[in-house]
Amino acid sequence: MKAKIAVLAGDGVGREIVPEAVKVLRAVAQRFGHTFEFSAGDIGGHAIDKVGVPLPQATLSLAKESDAVLLGAVGGPKWEGLDYSLRPERALLGLREELGLFANLRPAKLYPMLADASTLKRDVIEGIDLLVVRELIGGIYFGKPKGIEKTPTGERGINTEVYTTEEIRRIATVAFDAARKRKRKVASIDKANVLESSELWRRVVIEAHKNYSDVELTHMYVDNCAMQLVRNPKQFDVIVTTNMFGDILSDEAAMLTGSIGMLPSASIGARVGMYEPIHGSAPDIAGRNIANPIATIASAAMMLSYSFHLDKEAEAIERAILHTLEQGYRTKDIQSPGCQLMGTVEMGEAILKSLNQN
Ligand code: IPM
Ligand code: MG
Repeated sequence: MKAKIAVLAGDGVGREIVPEAVKVLRAVAQRFGHTFEFSAGDIGGHAIDKVGVPLPQATLSLAKESDAVLLGAVGGPKWEGLDYSLRPERALLGLREELGLFANLRPAKLYPMLADASTLKRDVIEGIDLLVVRELIGGIYFGKPKGIEKTPTGERGINTEVYTTEEIRRIATVAFDAARKRKRKVASIDKANVLESSELWRRVVIEAHKNYSDVELTHMYVDNCAMQLVRNPKQFDVIVTTNMFGDILSDEAAMLTGSIGMLPSASIGARVGMYEPIHGSAPDIAGRNIANPIATIASAAMMLSYSFHLDKEAEAIERAILHTLEQGYRTKDIQSPGCQLMGTVEMGEAILKSLNQN
C-alpha cells in the first residue's frame, strides 16, 4: 500500500525518538513492499521559535492531507512563560480538535522482563494488560466558559466540564468495540457522586451498553479507580473515561509497566489518526541520547494496525521490541543489573536489526 505520513517531532526528546520510529517504519515498508511517504512539519516550541505560533497553518494542512500523523512531544521550560494561547501544548490540543480525534487509546501492557523495573511488587503487576480509552476533545479541556477574569478582590480562573450525550455515546462505543477484541470487560470511570456531567456520562454509557450485552460493564468513581490501579490492576481490561480523568489515570497505568517511556498511544475517530508516545518532551534528558524510543516505535506499530490495517506489519514491530528486550538491551529508564545499557539511537538500531532478522 501507499501512505502519506506527517512526521511532527516537536520538542525535547521528541526530536530524538521520532527519527528512530521513522527508521523502523521505513524498514517495514521495504520488507513488506509498501510505500510510505514521510513529510516533516513544525509543531510546539520548535514552531514557536521558527514562525511564532505552536501550530502553524502549514502543519495543520500537512496533517489533514496525510493518512496518519506520527508525533513526538511538545513543550519545555523555554516556552512556559508564554500566554496560554501560544503555549506548545495548545498545538497538541488544536491538532486533536481539528482532526476530530475524540478517542485516545492508551494500552498498558507489562513486558514480562521489565516486571522488576516497576515500583510495584511483581505479583501485583505481573500479567497486566489494560487499555485506557480516553475521551480526547471534550470535557474540561475544551468546555466553555473558560479563562481568567478580574474580580473586585483579585482574579477568578474558570474551566468547565461539559459532555453531551453524543460525545459520551461515541467514546463508549469505541470502548465496547475494543473490549470485544479483548477480555470483554469495560470499567467506566466517573465522579457521578458529585458531578452532573458524570451523572449523564454514566447514564449514557449504560444506554450504549444495551447493544453490547456480551461485554461486562462496571462503573467506578475516579478516586477509587486511582486506588484500584495500584492495589489490583489485573482486574481491569478496558477503562473508558473523560479527557481529564483519562489524562491522569493513563499516566498512573503507564507507571505500572515500569516506565512511561514504554507506552504508545493512538488517537482516532476520524480519517487521519495520530500516534504518539504517552510521555512528554522530557526536557531534563533531551539532547543526550538517553531517551527511550520504544513508546514511539510502538506508536508507529499502532499506526500500522489502526490507520492502515497492516496487522502483520504491526506485529513484526512488536515482536522486534520484545526480542530486543529479551536480549537484555535497556535504555536508562528501564535499566536493571546485568542488562546492557543503550542510548536512544542504539536502541532504535537494535530494534531495527531484530526487525530485519525475524
Ligand atoms: C497527554 C499530555 C497532554 C494532555 C498535554 C501535553 C496537553 O499530558 O497527552 O497526556 O494533557 O492531554
Ligand atoms: Mg498526560
